[in-house]
Amino acid sequence: MKVLVTGGNGYIGSHTCVELLNSGYEVVILDNFSNSKKETLEKIKKITGKDFKFYEGNMIDRSILEKIFTENEIDAVIDFAAYKAVGESVAKPVEYYTNNVSTILVLLSVMKEYNVKKLVFSSSATVYGDPEIIPITEECKTGGTTNPYGTSKLFVEQILKDLYKSDNTFDIAILRYFNPIGAHESGLIGEEPNGVPANLLPYVSKVASGKLECLSIFGNDYNTKDGTGVRDYIHVVDLAKGHIKALEKLEKENKGLFIYNLGTGTGYSVLDIVNAFEKANGVKVNYKIAPRRPGDIATCYSDPTKAKEELGFTCEKTLEDMCRDAWNYEKNNN
Ligand code: UD1
Repeated sequence: MKVLVTGGNGYIGSHTCVELLNSGYEVVILDNFSNSKKETLEKIKKITGKDFKFYEGNMIDRSILEKIFTENEIDAVIDFAAYKAVGESVAKPVEYYTNNVSTILVLLSVMKEYNVKKLVFSSSATVYGDPEIIPITEECKTGGTTNPYGTSKLFVEQILKDLYKSDNTFDIAILRYFNPIGAHESGLIGEEPNGVPANLLPYVSKVASGKLECLSIFGNDYNTKDGTGVRDYIHVVDLAKGHIKALEKLEKENKGLFIYNLGTGTGYSVLDIVNAFEKANGVKVNYKIAPRRPGDIATCYSDPTKAKEELGFTCEKTLEDMCRDAWNYEKNNN
């Protein structure tokens, strides 16, 4: 089976390409390096010992997609090509909606033209807004997103639902990621945020390595066990494997639009993460308590039952693995 992976050179994309190649899929990557380094392509080859085709370009450009679909018999697409920085999305809504929504419309139109009807879409737990119940099941209400990044994911989910309604020969898996962290155990690929990291783990790594002085913990007065925010951190390699399970479902059962949470089902607080990182790696993470970050919620973790029952997906990696691999990547690459 030949899979086009858009944004395949990025953080989650590159780990997914590794798992696809390791599982015997043929891979074609489209990426414009907007948030990734060219060397990652070679590293994917080094880890897997396998080759793949690569096209440089932006999905908004119909001609590059037509070229790919003409030159390759694509069976399915995994779409990762999107911007993902929440703060930036507030400052640049037009860029975010263009890159995260307009581009997938071009992709879907070309998929229709070439009769390629299997799609795995990279969504986010952010679509649940401030969740009404914890743990979050796929049936929980979506909406109430507080930034263009989150709203762009919500819009695309709706577009995919409408598409499926109009043409049920499409097979679509929408995967709602919780908080992906960690890196490949080789230390070759991992998360490379531009500038000062906004997400917790990359920030913690940079404090541990001395590149940043001190972690600000955004609030210790939430209604959680220690007052700090609680999230469902999932190892990026487990998350990548979830995409293989989703593809297998679309291949085998070949019927429908499915939505799955991809998380571990366990919530850890910011202090849990700091402590686990220090313990796993024998390093010190300086921190101070700072005011709450606007838009943050107290608690967010998944009910992973549906993905377990329907996809056979369960996470194998522990929090210690996540912290160790994140640190290993930081040491090897920065
Ligand atoms: C964020 C996004 C979410 C996106 C996800 C992708 C926001 C508001 N939400 O989720 O839409 O899908 O990333 O990974 O940005 N924290 C600190 N200090 C820091 C950084 C974070 O205390 O320097 C805390 C946060 O308050 C939160 C936890 O760490 O409680 C996790 O934060 P983060 O990694 O930014 O992820 P989310 O906010 O859950």
